[in-house]
Amino acid sequence: MLANLLKESMYTVIYTGAGMSTESGLPDFRSAQTGLWEQEDPTRVASTEALNRDVEKFFQFYRQRVLGVKDCQPHAGYDILSKWEKNGTIQSVITQNVDGFHTESGSESVLELHGTLQKVHCQTCKKEYDSSMYEKESFYCDCGGKLRPSVILFGEALPEGPFMKAAEESEKADLFIVLGSSLTVTPANQFPLIAKESGAKLVIVNLEPTHFDHHADLVIHDKKIGELLAEVDGLL
Ligand code: APR
Repeated sequence: MLANLLKESMYTVIYTGAGMSTESGLPDFRSAQTGLWEQEDPTRVASTEALNRDVEKFFQFYRQRVLGVKDCQPHAGYDILSKWEKNGTIQSVITQNVDGFHTESGSESVLELHGTLQKVHCQTCKKEYDSSMYEKESFYCDCGGKLRPSVILFGEALPEGPFMKAAEESEKADLFIVLGSSLTVTPANQFPLIAKESGAKLVIVNLEPTHFDHHADLVIHDKKIGELLAEVDGLL
């Protein structure tokens, strides 16, 4: 079924969430027991408030995430998506993830809605550094300002540029495939609906049900993403 939809579509957009990286060894946020937000309160460690009020906890939380990303590799599912982009099977990727794995595995048309852990920047002068600063526990800019990861924190709005570009991509899609997202965070979770309302077929691949499943033309809950992508790739 999914292979046929991919063969028939003219413009396929892939939309990924943290479930795309669990098979690389990175925890997602909301899976029972293992999700990051099962262990930590995001407003205490991943918010503008935490950056201003509890900066040591903020620094250490993000240092662990930067180290976690550096210790993990994109799994084979990422290579399949990169191959599909090169052979015209898919046209673009919109991701909520900040691990940089799509780009690392060769995908080129990637929209990182929530920014990237690969970079940090000064909260005061905006100077940008590589995130290896966090590995070395260097948390302050030459100017004395706090260095923060170049990700969207809780309490911050999505920059208009990436949002508009993702909306345009979603409107162009005739096939929109969600891979590994609970679709609980707005406004990132609007893009599947924008695509659907623009006439696209909507596919949701997620180990747990989402509130958007009833909008989908196809829902797959019983297969991990890596396994599914390998299976579908073999049918194309
Ligand atoms: N295959 C398929 N689905 C999976 C897999 C897998 N191998 N591993 C996990 N999942 C599913 C989980 O069941 C879960 O419902 O992926 C989903 C991930 O959902 P979340 O943990 O909520 O992650 P996400 O939807 O990306 O969160 C969105 O929330 O905290 C913010 O900024 C953060 O970008 C993040 C946003």
